[in-house]
Amino acid sequence: MTRRLSWPLMPAACLLMAGCHTLQSSFDTHGPAAEQISHLEWFETICFLVITVVMWVLFTIAFFRRRGNLNEHAPIDVTGGESWIAIGGIAIPLVFLTILFVWGLDLLRAFPIHPMHGADKQGAMAHDMKPDILIVGHQWWWEIHYLNDDKSKQVITANEIHLPVGRPMNVRLETRDVMHSLWIPALHGKVDLIPGMPNYVRLEASQPGEYEGQCAEFCGAEHARMRLLAIAQTPDEFDAWLDAQRMPGHEPTTESEKSGQQIFLSGPCSMCHTVRGTVAGGSVAPDLTHIGSRQMIASNYYKNNDAFLEAWITHAQSLKPQAEMPNLTHFSGKQLADMVAYLRQLQ
Ligand code: CUA
Repeated sequence: MTRRLSWPLMPAACLLMAGCHTLQSSFDTHGPAAEQISHLEWFETICFLVITVVMWVLFTIAFFRRRGNLNEHAPIDVTGGESWIAIGGIAIPLVFLTILFVWGLDLLRAFPIHPMHGADKQGAMAHDMKPDILIVGHQWWWEIHYLNDDKSKQVITANEIHLPVGRPMNVRLETRDVMHSLWIPALHGKVDLIPGMPNYVRLEASQPGEYEGQCAEFCGAEHARMRLLAIAQTPDEFDAWLDAQRMPGHEPTTESEKSGQQIFLSGPCSMCHTVRGTVAGGSVAPDLTHIGSRQMIASNYYKNNDAFLEAWITHAQSLKPQAEMPNLTHFSGKQLADMVAYLRQLQ
């Protein structure tokens, strides 16, 4: 295609490409909260486009108007030009911004981020915000607890949040260090994780699918790689997943996996990571009890496969500089392969 032909097609190509990558777009909604927010976004976007077009038309008219000289130009108050300033500069922005403000406040009311925000006049909570899930932000990953009154049924995982379609899940948001912000655009707006002040969000997906999320508050060097994946499943699939997560770490079966487990448990890994059912009980790094079942590693940034796991163990500081995970380069090739085999079978 010639250069001259390709330029006019660029906007169309961009739109098409945007249509393919629907992962992190707040216009591509898959939950009731995000859908309500998107109505405001569409209103804003369309009004912005209309105002922009009108402005450009006016600019164009002004640009091509015949120039006069100073004698020919009457003062603005003689020709009634003030009305342009009053309408275009004051009335239209005032109406538009008032609508946005009131609409925005109404949306804030619809999505309480604290139990008392939803309380009615009698003090009863309009929204039962008892949390089903606790998400704890870390530099730079997400710790995810599935809560249960029966402590033995609680589950801790990382960076991959499973949701049952059509069943709202209350999420309590905390942070272990600095401020973060949870944003899964397909499901909900941003809600901050603030030290010492837990916030709440109700996540609900209206159809099965995988929705990418992202930390939306600058929190340090690896803020951009603090991602997470929300997987919405049918309630039956979700319950089966949760039951599987409640099990202790899978016991290794092959010689390689058994050797990998020994290396994992006797080395530095178990100081930071937990594998339930073993002596590995560290709590400063992601729980690895079911690491093999997760799609990605390093806060949903690299594929969970042999190559990336080996690279992560030996050169985490190259893959994610300044992360807490150190480079562990003292393993032999076989030791490394055994350890990866052990981790992969932790389904
Ligand atoms: Cu966490 Cu940005």
